[in-house]
Amino acid sequence: RNVAVLAGGLSHEREVSLRSGRRLSGALRAVGMEVREWDVDASLLTRLRDERPDAVAIALHGGEGENGAVQAVLELLGIPFVGTPSRACRRSWDKPGVKAELVRAGLSTPEWVALPHSTFRELGAKGVLDAIVDRLGLPLVLKPDQGGSALGVQMVQEAADLPAAMVSCLAYADTVLAERHVRGTEVAVSVVHDGDEPRALPPVEVEVPSGFYDYTSRYTPGAASFHCPARLPEATLATLQETALRAHELLGLRDVSRLDAIVTEDGQVQILEMNVSPGLTDTSLLPTAVTAAGEDLAGVYRSLIERASD
Ligand code: DAL
Ligand code: MG
Repeated sequence: RNVAVLAGGLSHEREVSLRSGRRLSGALRAVGMEVREWDVDASLLTRLRDERPDAVAIALHGGEGENGAVQAVLELLGIPFVGTPSRACRRSWDKPGVKAELVRAGLSTPEWVALPHSTFRELGAKGVLDAIVDRLGLPLVLKPDQGGSALGVQMVQEAADLPAAMVSCLAYADTVLAERHVRGTEVAVSVVHDGDEPRALPPVEVEVPSGFYDYTSRYTPGAASFHCPARLPEATLATLQETALRAHELLGLRDVSRLDAIVTEDGQVQILEMNVSPGLTDTSLLPTAVTAAGEDLAGVYRSLIERASD
């Protein structure tokens, strides 16, 4: 089979995606697969049409690689790919929308307020920012409502810092998601559907000295420590895996995904978000879980590619 690994692209996570793409292509070549690594640009459609790979693996993060645009092109051309179909990508590309869906299904996620750009004039009104702080407490977290790798995410310690933090956040999206900061153990659970049924890999615990798993600590080797399985009771690990599988199915995700969550001191799982295109870099969480489980990334992805193109 000849496989194209799509990476790069134009999103803020371009550099991360190039690293994911390199890692995945290298791993697949090492097990003898014929792999082409494509840096995605406007020529994608014609290139796919002319070169017609047997299957595509998406190592794109953010933007067109996660909002369903690239998936829609692949669907249009009838080229099999590993990953979530365009429609479910579009729905998942909206953090507040996903949170609402999780809550409707009885799952927990930190309390939030979505602040579209169009409401910002009202935020100037006396008392509005105070109302947000009253509701979510301090510190609180501001995130762009879409995107990944913690880009644009702001920890707000004091109410007076809110306006400036919002402006920084708006560099990445038109809507700001303000979220209650939940204390606890930060964990990630990857789901892969490389056999008959989707399965959850062992939960990975993330430990960051600063307490904030930001872009730098995500992609600087050694900046964060991982424990896999997470140092949590067996029952909690099982709950985490069940929760990841439930959320994966609920959102219509396919082949691969990753749940990011906080486990509170009393053992509650608070879902931060679901990732449609988990990072595959050397410091990313899915490869860490695969290795800890005694497996290898090439084996998992070879099965995913075979299943996609069968
Ligand atoms: N958005 C990054 C790549 C991740 O979720 O791993
Ligand atoms: Mg993410």
